[in-house]
Amino acid sequence: MRSFVSIGLFVLVGLITAILIGFPPSMAKPLPYDAEQAGLKDRIVIKFSHVVAENTPKGLAAEHFAKLVRERLSDRVEVQVYPNGILYSDKYELDALSRGEVHMIAPSFSNLTNAFPSWGAFDLPFAFPNQQAVDEALYGNIGKQLLAELANANMKGISFWNNGFKQVTSAQRPLIHPADFAGQTFRILPSKVLEQQFHALGAQAVMMPFTEVYRSVVRGDVDGQENTISNIYSKRLYQVQQHMTLSNHGYLGYAIIVNRTFWEELPADVRGVLEQALAETTQWNRELAQRLNDEQLHEIVKSGTMDIHQLSATERDEWIAALAPIYKQVEEEVGASLLQQIKTLRQQYNFDSP
Ligand code: LMR
Repeated sequence: MRSFVSIGLFVLVGLITAILIGFPPSMAKPLPYDAEQAGLKDRIVIKFSHVVAENTPKGLAAEHFAKLVRERLSDRVEVQVYPNGILYSDKYELDALSRGEVHMIAPSFSNLTNAFPSWGAFDLPFAFPNQQAVDEALYGNIGKQLLAELANANMKGISFWNNGFKQVTSAQRPLIHPADFAGQTFRILPSKVLEQQFHALGAQAVMMPFTEVYRSVVRGDVDGQENTISNIYSKRLYQVQQHMTLSNHGYLGYAIIVNRTFWEELPADVRGVLEQALAETTQWNRELAQRLNDEQLHEIVKSGTMDIHQLSATERDEWIAALAPIYKQVEEEVGASLLQQIKTLRQQYNFDSP
């Protein structure tokens, strides 16, 4: 009996204490002041999503941009970089941007072609002999026309970052003459122009997000793929594909795109600092991309896992001739005016006919 009374008393005292101290909000004490938390709710967070590894031209440029912003706007803006498609794969990042779930992305041009087919102009094989020709296209009328299309879809293209020229790899056999492609299946980015490119060589093409390439190659779902050296290296494709041809047949670059409403609603002074940081990062990326592709080619050679063939000028002319019909086939896709501008550029560099 005594123990029932003591338990009852204990519960009663506990309840009274809780009511007096814990429950009524009017009696809750404010948290102590923490300087680090000050203004946190006013801080602008920019989510920057991309699909490649951190040790690539795009991955490092994204980190460089975040660092510049931290140095210049640390109390007001935070750039959060999400690499390797951990937030969205390349298949979904454009939609995520338009819904405002992320604020900044850097898709390769080919990844824009589903929504904006004319970006396929940059997928045309042997359209550009070197980076200078690419720059002429990007920073001239061609680039302007392409960026204008994004503006119609509540997006804003702010900058172009480089990766570099694509090489082609296979698990089956060396790719030296166009006929060597026959019967093989290649992974491609989601681009009709790239699909036509492999069809013209008598091969099959499978569109697939970057995050799935390594597994598909290992499983043997595809025989080969095309990509830049830094992507072949950082995704370890060089360990699972035996043959690589240094062909420089196509270009892989990125458009840095923001959600337009988000961007325009930023305070003007903040936007100015961000634009300046992006401009500096673009310059920084140019040098880095070239250096990284060179260094990582050296690493691949050193690893000894691949037979590497440098396409000779004569072999390259064979490829150019085999791929020439594409320029007619994709006219509707790319648009006659853009196509004509690319053809003119090729002629200017004597790159159009063998
Ligand atoms: C690819 O899917 O191969 C590339 O777009 C990856 C990238 O973003 O560099």
